[in-house]
Amino acid sequence: MDIRFFPNNELLNTAAAGLIAHLLQAKPNAVLGLATGGTPVGIYEALIKLYEQQHIHFREAISFNLDEYVGLPETHDQSYHAYMQQHLFSQIDMPETSIHIPNGNAADLQAECSRYDSLLDKVKQIDLQILGLGHNGHIGFNEPDAGLVGGTHIVELKEETRLANARYFDSLDQVPTHAITMGIGTILKAKTILLVVRGADKAKIVHDALTGPITTENPASLLQTHPNLVVMLDAEAGVLF
Ligand code: GLP
Repeated sequence: MDIRFFPNNELLNTAAAGLIAHLLQAKPNAVLGLATGGTPVGIYEALIKLYEQQHIHFREAISFNLDEYVGLPETHDQSYHAYMQQHLFSQIDMPETSIHIPNGNAADLQAECSRYDSLLDKVKQIDLQILGLGHNGHIGFNEPDAGLVGGTHIVELKEETRLANARYFDSLDQVPTHAITMGIGTILKAKTILLVVRGADKAKIVHDALTGPITTENPASLLQTHPNLVVMLDAEAGVLF
């Protein structure tokens, strides 16, 4: 495990975008596993700058997003489809056909999970999976539980997750109760995983995840088993190491 500490967010964003850019330069048709939430926003901004400066392009790249809310229209400003358009895809040259995000509005959600898994099977392996971290240790929307699911599945969101994400909605009752998420098995199959954590409110959970027991009650702790895990922490999140 390679844990890197950054004194400020700008340096962290530059380093994370640099890691992604390095991969794209070496392998233009890389498969990127993308995350949403507040954590990666600055990384995407830094990545767009590298694209605008023509250091990288996305013409041959392929992306798979981790998750999507169930029941939010794609056009809703808090859908992860809308998030990805706003923060990345509208500003780079990745072909629409190379972008994959689970459809949380599919009439048959189980069929949608299978469809997403077969697309993932086709590319065999994600080259670089970016992850943020939930306050309860969730990655993607893999919530703490007695067991975890390997493939894409529907999950009922924990109350604490809905509360944490309520800041993006007008009220808590507008936060969806369910989501569709890539499973832990798919995440752990990625060649490289980049876990990014910011803020004092996540200092304990990231410390527990990376130094405590490996338990499905803290899904991020399973990352300890990954052979190629890079962790980027800002000063506040890294305070307990
Ligand atoms: C969300 C997402 C995760 C994200 C996490 C942290 O619910 N499903 O992919 O990593 O929670 O979000 P944030 O970066 O906004 O703290």
